[in-house]
Amino acid sequence: MLVVDDDPAILELIRAQIGSDFDVVTTDDPTHAHELSQARRFDLHLYDLTMEPLPGLELLLLTLAGSSDAAVVLMTGEPSVDRAVEALRSGATDLILKPLRFDDLSASLWRALQKARARGPSAGLRIAAVHDALTRAVEAKDPTTHGHGDRVRHLCQLVGRSIALAAHDLEILDCAAALHDIGKIGVPDAVLSKPGKLTPEEFELIKKHPTVGDRILEPVPGLDAVRRCVVEHHERWDGQGYPNGRKREEISLPGRVLIMAEVFDALSHARSYKAAWSHAEISKFFRERAGSHFEPELTANFIDLVDSDFDAMVQSTSPKP
Ligand SMILES: [Fe+2]
Repeated sequence: MLVVDDDPAILELIRAQIGSDFDVVTTDDPTHAHELSQARRFDLHLYDLTMEPLPGLELLLLTLAGSSDAAVVLMTGEPSVDRAVEALRSGATDLILKPLRFDDLSASLWRALQKARARGPSAGLRIAAVHDALTRAVEAKDPTTHGHGDRVRHLCQLVGRSIALAAHDLEILDCAAALHDIGKIGVPDAVLSKPGKLTPEEFELIKKHPTVGDRILEPVPGLDAVRRCVVEHHERWDGQGYPNGRKREEISLPGRVLIMAEVFDALSHARSYKAAWSHAEISKFFRERAGSHFEPELTANFIDLVDSDFDAMVQSTSPKP
């Protein structure tokens, strides 16, 4: 539960009173609260109405914009009918009065939690669950790729944040990273998990998976940018990749990040046809391919990340929502 009040004494009181019933995160900075609620999912939110620079009502609207079914309880020391109506119309689950009576507070929070649970998982959680299921369906076809989708998602977020990618692009990238290999469902298992070298005909089958993935996702509304990344994830900066031989900025920026993250994870883990590569081998690989396989500027940044935190990048797992 996220509790926000610009009075630290109130936060202390709330923590003392309900900290044994709820796992409580508190902050007296509403702007930081907004960042926290974007970074992780809370079951419950308790916001003071009168705060600077972000009043509780605005924080409520921002929270609901990120997760339309979030349970948000507001508290106020200046009750008025108008304010109560405005709060509830804006989507607050409840409004409680200060000074806080902790029996009332606790009852209100449990009610809000029950209401949220009765609604079932949020749209965001349902979509995340579908992503997970599809990722695992692909990985089940080739057990040596187990965990690849999760790790690529995490790596993409790491790289995306390090180059200050916009939040919208980070979201596209996360979805594309989860779904990038979905087209492998259309590739025979014997080809996917074949130990050793593929014949040219087998490689032609593999090369279809980005476009097959695009076709699988085509009926889903709102995924145009994600589908573009899925198609691009085996392209190269110099145009020598597949399936379309797109080059340089013809490849979207999230697509260029996904290309690097995907290759890093493939190299740093054993596959049916090869052992896991070492830090030095991978670093050298990226250095030699800056400007051919990968975008040069992104590669320089990526190598810095690899060299500073190789082991953590190899073991990457997606943060759970
Ligand atoms: Fe792929």
